[in-house]
Amino acid sequence: MSTPFYITTPIYYVNDVPHIGHAYTTLACDIMARFKRLDDNDVFFLTGTDEHGQKVETAAKSKNLKPKEFVDKVSINFVKLLDCMNFSNDDFIRTTEKRHFDSCQKIWNKLVENGNIYLGKYSGWYAVRDEAFFLESEIVDGKAPSGAPVEWVEEPSYFFNLSKWQDKLLTLYEENEDFISPKSRRNEVVSFVKGGLKDLSVSRTSFSWGIKVPNDDKHIMYVWLDALTNYLSACDFSKDQSNMKDSKFWPADIHMVGKDIIRFHAVYWPAFLMAADLPLPKKVFAHGWWTNEGNKISKSLGNVINPFDLVEEYGVDQIRYFLMREVPFGNDGDFSKSQLINRINSDLANSYGNLFQRVVSMIFKNCNETIPLKPKSLKNEDIILINSIKNNINDYRLLIDNQKFDVYLKNVWLVISDANKYTDEQAPWTLRKTDFKRMEVVLFTLIETLRQISLLLQPFLPKTSTSVLDQIKIPSNNRQIKDVEVIFGGGAKIELPEPLFPRVQN
Ligand code: MSP
Repeated sequence: MSTPFYITTPIYYVNDVPHIGHAYTTLACDIMARFKRLDDNDVFFLTGTDEHGQKVETAAKSKNLKPKEFVDKVSINFVKLLDCMNFSNDDFIRTTEKRHFDSCQKIWNKLVENGNIYLGKYSGWYAVRDEAFFLESEIVDGKAPSGAPVEWVEEPSYFFNLSKWQDKLLTLYEENEDFISPKSRRNEVVSFVKGGLKDLSVSRTSFSWGIKVPNDDKHIMYVWLDALTNYLSACDFSKDQSNMKDSKFWPADIHMVGKDIIRFHAVYWPAFLMAADLPLPKKVFAHGWWTNEGNKISKSLGNVINPFDLVEEYGVDQIRYFLMREVPFGNDGDFSKSQLINRINSDLANSYGNLFQRVVSMIFKNCNETIPLKPKSLKNEDIILINSIKNNINDYRLLIDNQKFDVYLKNVWLVISDANKYTDEQAPWTLRKTDFKRMEVVLFTLIETLRQISLLLQPFLPKTSTSVLDQIKIPSNNRQIKDVEVIFGGGAKIELPEPLFPRVQN
């Protein structure tokens, strides 16, 4: 029986069109989901759209549309992004769906039943852009810490007794080193919680676009309580009878988020879940933010990076590779066109693309269009190359489990570079005249290495690696991670190779 693996992206606000930040979070999840599927897990990969709240209501008004008409229109752009970036999600949840409405009502009722919600009055600051409440002490120069404008809000409100959960949260972080990752974010959250938690306003009355509070329809649920609950809605929480103890996929193995929304996921969310007596997710990973050529990305600066344009101009695998290779996952990074072009030309075209091209065309031209059979004996240098991935496959598994995507790629590229060096040293074009048998062994060694490389690259470069594996005739049912360790037999007939990556002009 394969192990269930549940991974989620944040659900995206539909007040905006998709940008590189959205593509980035989902890409990281897509890579983990694809790897886990290839490694024998039963994967549930969820993404979707966050369609309620004041921010979305205001955006709809500015377009002269009813909120529902507006969200129906804009959420399609996020569905289109999935296709454009070749994302392999298993479900797409919208917070305007019935399954989600039911699940929000259910969690609210559980919180009430357990005595964790009470009626009071909120007076304080609210930032619509962040959809977040702030204490007077958190306001910097009249703005939220993120720079978002704030407004003074005074209205009746239901409160969640967050303060009661402070110690339990600290115990959770202490007992589960890995619950918040990377470490820097963990420290940040721990000191925030140690600083003391105030009860949290969880309903609003001054606008109406949201999920009504059960039995008090003047109130709508705070958009973050609504939004976070999506992770349960997609696991049929509304129909569940076991407090999710018998759920196939809940608790989530990992919630992937950006660093700006770590507090909601690592403080509020586990507190809501504990208060509703539900199992807790295993890990929250917060990645960094991209700047554009050194500048903060913002609509007002007009420098938002559109993933659709990028993919159209450079190709989907090229963008996927760049985003995952350029920056250690978890750190902030800078998007620069010249760096993107460098990576495409040097790593993809000159290294991986070139290795494939030279090896497959040499086989095509010199070996009767047929991959040489697995040789009876190999020299030491052949064995070293063939073993370099095969003997370290658990390291790659660990790198995925620890979100070290850039290191994974670096390691694969070291093997690509070794394979190119081996080709130069062995010079099969010379062996063709001097030692035909040895040439066949060298070409076999190379194609076997290319097979292992391409198997490992499937989660990152799904289109290209599939094309390579197709062209070197690896059957589609022999493309699991465990197949890396089974050296293939050779003998298949091949065609002239098709180039993998066109070079890009600088
Ligand atoms: N709707 C909430 C999430 C609710 S989850 C229960 C939300 N949506 S969002 O659309 O504003 O942002 C979603 C994600 O995009 C966040 O993870 C955020 O970090 C990411 N990014 C937005 N801009 C980004 C960059 N410039 N760089 C990298 N990621 C960034 O928050």
